[in-house]
Amino acid sequence: MDLTKTNASSARTRHAELCDLLENYSGQYYLLDTPTISDAEYDALYNELLEIEKEFPELKTKNSPSQKVGAKVSKKFSKIKHSSPMLSLENAFNEDDIAAFLERVRNLSGLDQIDLVLEPKLDGLSASLKYKNGMLIYGATRGDGTVGEDVTANILTVDNIPRKIRNDFDEIEIRGEVIMKKVDFQKLNESREISEEKLFANPRNAAAGSLRQLDAEITRSRKLTFFAYAIITRDSVFKTQMDVLKTLREYGFTVSDKIALCRDQQEAFLFYAEMEKQRAELEYDIDGVVYKVNDLQLQQKLGAASKFPRHSIAYKFPAEKAETTVLDIIVQVGRTGNITPVAELVPVTVGGVVVSRATLHNKDEIDKKDIRVGDRVVLQRAGDVIPQILYSIPEKRPENSMSFVFPSVCPCCGSTLVRGDEEVAIKCVNISCEAQMIERLIHFVSRQAFNIDGLGDQNIKFFFDSGIIKSPPDIFELEEKNKSLVRLENMDGWGKQSVTNLFESINKARTIRLDKFIYSLGISQVGRSVSKLVANFFKSYENFQRGVGSSVTLDPFTASLPSETYASSIFNAETTANNIDDLLMVDGIGNSILNDIKNFFANKSNLEVVKKLADMITIVDMEASDASPLANKTIVFTGTFEKMSREEAKELAEKYGAKAASSVSSKTSFVVAGENAGKKLDQAKKLGIKVLSEQDFIELLPT
Ligand code: IVH
Repeated sequence: MDLTKTNASSARTRHAELCDLLENYSGQYYLLDTPTISDAEYDALYNELLEIEKEFPELKTKNSPSQKVGAKVSKKFSKIKHSSPMLSLENAFNEDDIAAFLERVRNLSGLDQIDLVLEPKLDGLSASLKYKNGMLIYGATRGDGTVGEDVTANILTVDNIPRKIRNDFDEIEIRGEVIMKKVDFQKLNESREISEEKLFANPRNAAAGSLRQLDAEITRSRKLTFFAYAIITRDSVFKTQMDVLKTLREYGFTVSDKIALCRDQQEAFLFYAEMEKQRAELEYDIDGVVYKVNDLQLQQKLGAASKFPRHSIAYKFPAEKAETTVLDIIVQVGRTGNITPVAELVPVTVGGVVVSRATLHNKDEIDKKDIRVGDRVVLQRAGDVIPQILYSIPEKRPENSMSFVFPSVCPCCGSTLVRGDEEVAIKCVNISCEAQMIERLIHFVSRQAFNIDGLGDQNIKFFFDSGIIKSPPDIFELEEKNKSLVRLENMDGWGKQSVTNLFESINKARTIRLDKFIYSLGISQVGRSVSKLVANFFKSYENFQRGVGSSVTLDPFTASLPSETYASSIFNAETTANNIDDLLMVDGIGNSILNDIKNFFANKSNLEVVKKLADMITIVDMEASDASPLANKTIVFTGTFEKMSREEAKELAEKYGAKAASSVSSKTSFVVAGENAGKKLDQAKKLGIKVLSEQDFIELLPT
């Protein structure tokens, strides 16, 4: 019920209720010094009162609590200790589990026949509502089972929760599930899609996200529903669970109408099967049937194990399945270049949701399952809303059907797709592919790459969407183009100063060290440390360019080599010096990384972009020049040194382009041995590896 929109008479009634409640609580607080509710609970009720008075000012009389004392608005959930723990339920997945549960109940109780109450297992989040003298005073989430969050303000926005109930008990707690109906969930996600907000995965997440909102106005706009299933009172007054449900209905709570009292296991299984059948048609998601011992005295006697009561169990439904036809298989390119195949389906309802597309994950998945266009397939929707294709039914396959041929070019930019060594993902590695451009640009300007301060994520999006920056080189052409074409300073949100600042930071980035340049390209598996290894190996951009010029195009799926390479022609690489394959000599670079590097440079537009960039900027050599005899050496330090610690020695070695390793192998260039050198020295001698003294090492360091 949206109070601000209801008529004056219901507002008047609620207003009177609130006046009473607030009077009562402030009395306890101020006069007796024994508050029974938290500040947050008080604030929530108080705010509700203010809202009504805003809409109906005539109710703002001098007797209203709003005219007496003020209350500060608290923003955080406070904690509420539950009067008895809110436990969870043990799960059963098949009839045997249920039989074992019943056997245990029979053994513990000594009874032969046990009446069971079956209720749908609602898929939401549990809540506990406290009523004092018939008045709702707070609502809490389950929290850790002992202490929950105070969500009173939000609970007050749920239409079907009565604020006032029959005054049978001084204190009573009503427990149940807060859920979002399927229609409300769909409406919510539709509106979120329009406003480009992240969609909720399923009604349960939406319900939880909505109830645990700091701003109760948001909860109010999100239509939640409460289903009651338990009553907690100080004394055991109810005889059976059926009594409890009946009383809950009398109090005005919504109780599921799919309840069954079963006298034996067979009856119970029939009800379970019936619920499974009805599941898709229900207004709300359920994920099983809860089996409860009807006799509450017996429930009490059975007690609880550490986490679960022994009187109830949740018999979960298996994931729902449905059959449909594959209309087409398309491929999509993600923001990081991964190519994902997606099946377009004849729409079918599974788990209460109409499904018309399902991801096929990757090429291997399609091959393994041999899913073809025209196939009849079985879909499954497990706990979440992303449906999966389990298998296709070959017997129902049309006669002329053909295996799916995975495209060899990107659906967005048309460049040849590649597959990394031992990887399942097939990728588009084109640095200029529009589908990936925003991500790539963000990476390109990031701190460890070109470090262009003035180009934050938002600016990148703006420049990309307005067509001003379509590829990294455009960044360095922006200033020139701005003089005649772009005219940034005339655009919304830009001024003379911000434009000057932007160009200043772009120009500062025109000088970049080779490792950062390599990193900026966003080559798969080439992060900061691999970029450094590659850069230290090539040392200068010229060498690097010659090296990558020797890249050959690998056919992505068969790994066969084409006869000619574009790469060598664009960089005029004929020499075998600095051959890209030599990178394998670098410790830390294996075939998989090498392949990703080759694949990147086998792409024609990548080479063009790199070349274009290199013409616009200055790429600084790595510090370790050819002059350093340590460059690319693998050194092992052992023993104690006089003039420096071992750590300092390692740092020095690395500074001048060497790699410090911890064990001696055939790859070790030499061992530097200090005092008391032990096993590593022996190992070096055994392998015939050169051994240097500390002084020899110092002499190798460039002056
Ligand atoms: S009775 C001792 N009845 O399932 C726990 N729980 O997995 C008593 N649930 O935390 C819970 N529908 O959130 C009960 N008809 C139902 C239920 C139900 C859903 C939830 C509840 C509980 C969880 C346990």
